[in-house]
Amino acid sequence: MLLHLSTWAEIEAYLKRSTTVVVPIGSNEQHGPTGLLGTDWLCPEIIAHEAHKAGDILVAPTFNVGMAQHHLDFPGTIALRPSTFMLAIGDWVRSLAHHGFDRIFFLNGHGGNVATIEAAFSELYADASYRGGKSGFALRLKNWWDLQGVQKLAYQQFPTGHGSHATPSEIAVTQWAYPDAIKTANYAPQIAPTGPIREASDFRARYADGRMGSNPAQASPEKGGELVKLAVQGLLEEVRAFGAERAPLAAE
Ligand code: NI
Repeated sequence: MLLHLSTWAEIEAYLKRSTTVVVPIGSNEQHGPTGLLGTDWLCPEIIAHEAHKAGDILVAPTFNVGMAQHHLDFPGTIALRPSTFMLAIGDWVRSLAHHGFDRIFFLNGHGGNVATIEAAFSELYADASYRGGKSGFALRLKNWWDLQGVQKLAYQQFPTGHGSHATPSEIAVTQWAYPDAIKTANYAPQIAPTGPIREASDFRARYADGRMGSNPAQASPEKGGELVKLAVQGLLEEVRAFGAERAPLAAE
């Protein structure tokens, strides 16, 4: 089920058979000369929406803006500072928990989000710890490329020039889902440089076209489709296991 295409009554009925919800989360940020600005939220959304066609899972609206301050010198990037992002994740979780969701699974598409999402989880658990008692929910973060077998397949598809930003694997996934939005460019150099991530002006000076270590010319819709297929299997298994992890919460 997709939450945004359901009614409250359908969600109330769903909660009688499952209290697990999947939240695609990403970032709206530059992805080099050919990558879509939505790449990091589109990838988890594409995978989660495909998974909902194959299994009985509930997918929440995509959290499509994240921790992307370092990309702000490229037009179109929209960023939340870490403190704002943490507050927003907190209210997102509290809203879902208020209805009775006690297994909240974030499928992430942006490496730059990881530290902030983990810190937000710690804040949410800390609320319960200081209050005394249980939080009432369990939280899980999984990057889509860390789903079973996905990174291995990506490195088989792209043994050189995979890189870490505007990668051929993430661009391939968006090409598969949005073939009408495929872009081309002449990359110079073919494989982008690598290095540290700091503030936006430093980032643009180091990575002139926005890529890091990648050669996105290798992407194709077919390769993207292979990645999506594997990721869907991995996601359904992860969500099933997370929902079955009935620990002390349900025993109360
Ligand atoms: Ni990305």
